[in-house]
This record gives sequence, C-alpha cells and structure tokens, in this order.
Amino acid sequence: MKLTSDELRKKWINFFKDRGHTPISSASLIPENDPTVLFTTAGMHPLVPYLLGQPHPAGKRLCDTQKCVRTGDIDEVGDASHCTFFEMLGNWSLGDYFKDEMVPWSYEFLTERLGLDPDRLAVTVFEGDDDCPRDEHTAALWEKCGIKRENIFYLGKKHNWWGPAGQTGPCGPDTEMFFDTGKPKCCDTCSPACDCGKYVEVWNDVFMQFNKNADGTFSPLKQKNVDTGMGLERALMNVQGLSSVYDTDVFTPIVKKIEELSGRKMSDADAVRAIRVVADHVRTATFIIGDERGVTPSNVDQGYILRRLLRRAIRFGSTIGLKSGDYSKIANVVVDKYAEAYPELAAARDKIAFEIDEEQTRFERTLENGIKEFEKLCKYIQGDTINGKSAFRLYDTYGFPLEMTVEMAKERGFKVDVDGFNARFEEHRNLSHAGAEQRFKGGLADTGELTARLHTATHLMHRALKEVLGDEGVNQRGSNITPERLRFDFSFARAMTPDEVKAVEDKVNEAIKADVEITCEEMTVDEAKAAGAVGLFASKYGEKVKVYTMGEYSKEICGGPHANRTGELGHFKILKEQSSSAGVRRIKAVLE
Ligand code: ALA
Repeated sequence: MKLTSDELRKKWINFFKDRGHTPISSASLIPENDPTVLFTTAGMHPLVPYLLGQPHPAGKRLCDTQKCVRTGDIDEVGDASHCTFFEMLGNWSLGDYFKDEMVPWSYEFLTERLGLDPDRLAVTVFEGDDDCPRDEHTAALWEKCGIKRENIFYLGKKHNWWGPAGQTGPCGPDTEMFFDTGKPKCCDTCSPACDCGKYVEVWNDVFMQFNKNADGTFSPLKQKNVDTGMGLERALMNVQGLSSVYDTDVFTPIVKKIEELSGRKMSDADAVRAIRVVADHVRTATFIIGDERGVTPSNVDQGYILRRLLRRAIRFGSTIGLKSGDYSKIANVVVDKYAEAYPELAAARDKIAFEIDEEQTRFERTLENGIKEFEKLCKYIQGDTINGKSAFRLYDTYGFPLEMTVEMAKERGFKVDVDGFNARFEEHRNLSHAGAEQRFKGGLADTGELTARLHTATHLMHRALKEVLGDEGVNQRGSNITPERLRFDFSFARAMTPDEVKAVEDKVNEAIKADVEITCEEMTVDEAKAAGAVGLFASKYGEKVKVYTMGEYSKEICGGPHANRTGELGHFKILKEQSSSAGVRRIKAVLE
C-alpha cells in the first residue's frame, strides 16, 4: 500500500477518534518531574499519573503521536530499522475498555486500514507465571479475529511483559503483533522471539494491570488500562514493503540532502551506514534542540546525549565527505519535513541551525588535537586496553564522547576500560557538584507527598522569579524533582544577586504563610492563556488542560500532583543559584 507518514498519522487518529478517543498533542521529549530518565521513551510515559488513577482532563480514551528518543541501541543505528528518535502512535484506555475491544480493533486496523495480509500476521501472548496467569483469553480473541492458531505464540516475561518505563511504575503483560516477512523459519522453534528477521514487530498492546514496586514486587493497579504503541517509521516500512526505515518518506528528503552534500549514494555499500547514521542523529538532534523544552549541547544530562549524537554524526559524516556547515543544512530539511506535524521545530529553526554549527566548530577545534593524542595513546598502549584514565582525559580535555573513543579503539583492535572511565566520570561529577543529585533515586513520576510539595513550591518560585527578575526574561527551561530537593532551570542572562535570591525566598515563604487553598480547573489551552496562566503547552487539538491556582501567588498549566494548601509546604530555602548553560540559570532548593 502506498502510505505516507502524514497519512498514517491521520489514519491512526481518525480510527481511534471514531472509537471515542480524544486526540492529545505529543508531550515534550524532555520529561518533567521524572528524575529517572532523560528522555520520553514511550507514549505512556507522560501519562503515568493517569495510568495510576488520576483523572485525565481529556477523558478515559486517548490517542496521539508521541515524539520519543531511545539511545540504548545507538550502536545498531545504521542497520535497516534502528533509530534514536521515533514517533510512537499510541492509544489508551484509562480504566475503560480492555482486551475484548483492543484485540479486534488492532486486527481491524492492521488488516483493513493498513492492508496487511492476515495470513502474514503473527502474534505473541503472555505464557503466564506466578505474577500473572497465562493469557488464553487474548489468544482466543486473536483466533476469533482470524489469526491462524500456528501464528499465535506464548512467550514469557522477557518478551511479553512491558514496563515500567523507569524503575517503578505501571506495567503488565502484553500482546505483540508481528509481520511475517515470508523468510523461511530459521529453526524448528523459530518464533517472533528470534531475531533471525523472519518476524518484524509492528505493534504492542500492553494490558497495564500492575505497578512494579521499588522492591521488585508487583501490586495490582486501581484500574485496568490499555497502553499501545506502534512505531511509525517501522509501520511505514512494513506497509510499503520497503527494506529499511531510511527508505520511508520521513527519511527520503533527509537522505537526498546528505547524498547531494556528500556526493555519495545510499546505493554505495561503503557509504550507506554513514548516511543512515547522519540522517538519524541529525534528525534526533533537531528534535532535541527544537523541543518546547529544548536543550543545547553540554557535558551533562540531555545536553551530553545531544553532544554525543552530533559528534558521532560529524565523525561518520566526515568519512563520506560532509563538511562544516552541512549538518545545519541537513537539519533544515528535517524541520521542513516535520514542520506541519511538529510546529515547535519551525519556530526553533534558527536556533537549531545555530546550535548545530556551534557544536561543530567546538568539536573541530578539539578534534584535531584529540586525534593526535589518541594516536599517541595507541602507540604506547600496554596490552590491548585503553585505560579509564586515558579515556577520561580524551573526554575531559579533548571532548571525545566515550562512545567515540570506544569506536575508534575498536577500529584499531583495542578495547577501552569503560568501568574505569565511568568511575572517573562519577568522581568528576561529584567533584563539580553536578552529580550529587542522585538522579536515579526516586521512582518514575514519583507521586509521593514530598515530591508533590516540592512541585508546588516550584510553581511559587517560578512566579516569584518573574516578579523579582522581570516577567519577560524569565522562563522555565526545565524542572527535575526528587523527594529531597527541587531543581529548576530558567532563562536569565546573569547570576542573581544575594538580595534577589533572598527576595525570591521571601516571596515563596509569604505565599506558604498565607496558607491559601490550591484549586484546579480544567479549560482549553486558549482559555488558560487568557486567564493569565503560565506554562508550556503546544496544543494541536485545542484540548483541555488542568490549571492550578494558588490564590494570587501562582496560576500554571500543569498535570500535578500538588499539595492541597500552600501551608503544607513548611519553609522554603534556596541552596544554590548557578549557571546551567549559556543564558540559563539553575536553582536548587529544599523545603525544611
Ligand atoms: N508502552 C508500550 C511500548 O512502548 C506500548 O511498547
């Protein structure tokens, strides 16, 4: 079937709209208030509080296309189907319908809307264990739809259990749908669990009935949810019968631009991997910089991943003859391709090009010396391993991401002591006080009382900052909360004076002392903006949002959770105000 990415997104939304779902806009790629992960990795991620039982303003049936970044498979990028950025088509039942509706809908969408041959569909279901019984019900539903019995496979937790996205949170058994490429079975027990390439995953329906606790046990959720996800790029590849995601329409203009700038072709076996790596990494970088909470390259957190992606793209690009300035031109094509589906990219077009060019310049400056240093290292190496100290020096002094050192070493038959590097990296982070925040403590979207209070304090502080420093220049750039402290990044050109810090603390404590009630109303984004609420929300669908009001002290668009009264917060204290990146300040504060 001929199907473009724009058509697939629309087909998806319309299919679920017809079945009572409300479309919601993609959330930011940078999760807010989730200390356990750097990027949004699945459509369910921004919906965790609602899967746990909080009512969603748009109702119990939702659907969307979510921007996702997963960098776990970065080494696989360059093959036919791995990408670091992808769009996840998703639909949800928040304690509403369950398997009896979802399985037939999945079958209908795949066969009737996407035109896949039912005989070439294979599905997997959960085989059962002590936590959850064998899912014969779902298998029977598939058979009733028309899936042949021999194409239904029972698999264990490793394959048929999804989530949680972080360390704790909602999860459950799933049923996955695969497209049978028609290749012969690799062995007698060949199934979708093999990676022989016969079966390609197209869609995952998760029956989210459990919460994984910090001690590793599972407790039943208050409500039974459905969470599904279909990777847009892979779905297009399957439907169009293409052999790689890079041949689908989301990539073709990007690949064409790389071919034009480099003079190399995808059909050239020596160039194909580099072209794909550049296409993938520049696309991901464009989405990270151009996100509504976009970040810029740096040595920590999301900024570091972005730096790694750009530097890796530049390194691969140099092997096919890409030059300075080419990467921002490629990014421009990415913006053109996605401008309609993700308007935030078009709004950030100049910033994206600027940041990419800047990073390239910074990288080139250090690269030359770094490569010399690397060659020297290789000459004097003892044994076959580059030690952690040397790898860290390359990172710290020459800006080589670890991964790049590993790759360059591999090309010369050497290994790298990654643990040794990590130990030094941690030491360095602790020394510079950047890592003392224990990012990996806390659970996914921790909704505990301490977090709720710190989150409430963040709203009060945001408003106080605007009052003390001026409304225009101060805007939220990021927020990260653990049960111990809040961290808030905001745009502002200079360091705050001690008097300003004190004034912000006083204002927040005054609001706490006033002990006002915290109220929540639901309204459209436009209504919220008209009511004077602050907050980021790019709405494509005019959907409803929650607006939290704290007397005269704060009005923000936000998903919660919050304290009930400001008086519950105790005493607010700013521990530190420092630079986060150019033009962005970072505050860490606590409630005592
Ligand atoms: N959350 C599920 C996934 O990511 C749908 O596969």
